[in-house]
Amino acid sequence: MEIGTLDQNDIKLISDLQPTDWQNIIPTIEFYTNTDFCFPIKVIIEEKIVGIGTTIIHDDIAWLAHIIVHPDHRNQGIGSVITQTLVGNLKTRNCETIYLIATELGEPVYKKNGFETETEYLFFKDIKINGSWKTPKNLVAFKDCFKVEIANLDLQVSGENRLFHLEKQLPSGHVYLQNNVVEGFYLSTWRGFNNCKNNVSRSGANEISIGHKRKRSFCYRQFYCKRVFAPK
Ligand SMILES: CC(C)(COP(=O)(O)OP(=O)(O)OC[C@H]1O[C@@H](n2cnc3c(N)ncnc32)[C@H](O)[C@@H]1OP(=O)(O)O)[C@@H](O)C(=O)NCCC(=O)NCCS
Repeated sequence: MEIGTLDQNDIKLISDLQPTDWQNIIPTIEFYTNTDFCFPIKVIIEEKIVGIGTTIIHDDIAWLAHIIVHPDHRNQGIGSVITQTLVGNLKTRNCETIYLIATELGEPVYKKNGFETETEYLFFKDIKINGSWKTPKNLVAFKDCFKVEIANLDLQVSGENRLFHLEKQLPSGHVYLQNNVVEGFYLSTWRGFNNCKNNVSRSGANEISIGHKRKRSFCYRQFYCKRVFAPK
């Protein structure tokens, strides 16, 4: 087994790794290979890429992302090797916290490698709705005057300063306003990214999600995805 840096030339070789229930991974992996704060790796067995994973570094926080092992090679420890390599590569960086969002398949791997659950995320799944749907009055299209509140809210919820990322997506985003305070925001172009304070009601969270896609609703379910961190 060899481990190396995943670069742009590898993009055409990884389509076999696409998990069936995920959005197309290629544009995101391509982004990782072109971006100076992302560090994608590959695992090669018999000249074939059988696994990938990426570290994303935002200041002193790192995220592990897109850890995927080809179905024919799963349960042989490769997922753990990728996780350990990505974590090991961070030793020379000044990262105190490592986050990731775990799928059901990923959770046992990360737990085995010292990650702990910090909080749970809610994922919204598209379903068709019957009849018409009206934009709720609390849901408002982005304006520049919301930017500071959005940045503060995101910092509060994620613990990271990600305004440099968010800024590109904000113009097509929406906010959820309660008493003229931004309680949540929705960015359709950031893979439906949706952040809100704990006190936003379930319907509020739903409104944030469906605001941009009027022909669809989202079913609400508590998901298995978790945000975890590695012990120092
Ligand atoms: C998650 C994933 C990367 C793991 O890769 P892998 O190479 O199979 O991982 P490993 O072999 O290192 O570890 C799998 C472990 O999970 C265990 N496991 C698998 N399914 C499990 C389940 N439902 N419950 C409990 N343990 C489970 C295996 O027994 C194995 O443990 P062991 O090594 O102690 O026997 C792979 O399943 C994958 O690509 N899934 C699709 C993409 C995905 O969900 N990625 C994770 C993103 S967070």
